[in-house]
Amino acid sequence: MNHNQQHKVTKSMNTANSNRLKKNCMTYEFELFKLPYAFYALEPNIDALTMELHHDRHLKTYTDNLNATLKPYPELHGWTLERLLCSLHSLPLKIREAVRNNGGGVYNHIYYFSGMCPNDEANKSAHICEPEGSLARKIECVFGGFDEFKKQFKASAIQVFGSGYLWLVANRRGQLKIMETSNQDTPIAQGYCPIICLDLWEHAYYLKHYNDRASYIDDWFNVLNCDFAEKNYECCLAIDNSQTKM
Ligand SMILES: [Fe+2]
Repeated sequence: MNHNQQHKVTKSMNTANSNRLKKNCMTYEFELFKLPYAFYALEPNIDALTMELHHDRHLKTYTDNLNATLKPYPELHGWTLERLLCSLHSLPLKIREAVRNNGGGVYNHIYYFSGMCPNDEANKSAHICEPEGSLARKIECVFGGFDEFKKQFKASAIQVFGSGYLWLVANRRGQLKIMETSNQDTPIAQGYCPIICLDLWEHAYYLKHYNDRASYIDDWFNVLNCDFAEKNYECCLAIDNSQTKM
């Protein structure tokens, strides 16, 4: 597959993944999320072995564990992943923590994996992506431009303690915020709409970057999928925000 073909596939997967999440149509029995690119596609920024282990071991384990947790509860089999994560308090106490951790693990990784894409072949180590639509205008307004946003996002990501994620999220009014979540907690459970997701668990970068989280963040920015981020922001503005904060 050449670069143009890969780009078309990635673009259509962006829409499909975004729509699948936003239309709330993921229910039990949850399928293992299909990567929209090859394991090696993000080289040299994110190495192939890390991607393979991250997807085929870590995400698969979260998916399998979520299904195993829900199997004895047919009354929950029609619940979407979003409904489960936003309604943890109403789940049976016995499975609440397992759904929080494994459901969150599935949800967060879909955003993380979908939020990256292969760079142009000629610019594999160069930053070539910036949002261009309504998200770009909002970032300019809130952070003073994409480069300034990157600086603030990186500084926040470096300071995340332990395992977790850093997000760019929107509230119901479309206001942007850099937000940290611990372990496998999700922004939607706290009433925010996800736009950009950075996995800061060591399994996301340790094989290539060791403990150098800063260089991992730089490399991750090189493969940031700006189309996906733009679509997410448009969805955040468009969806029924009855569960998001004022
Ligand atoms: Fe991860």
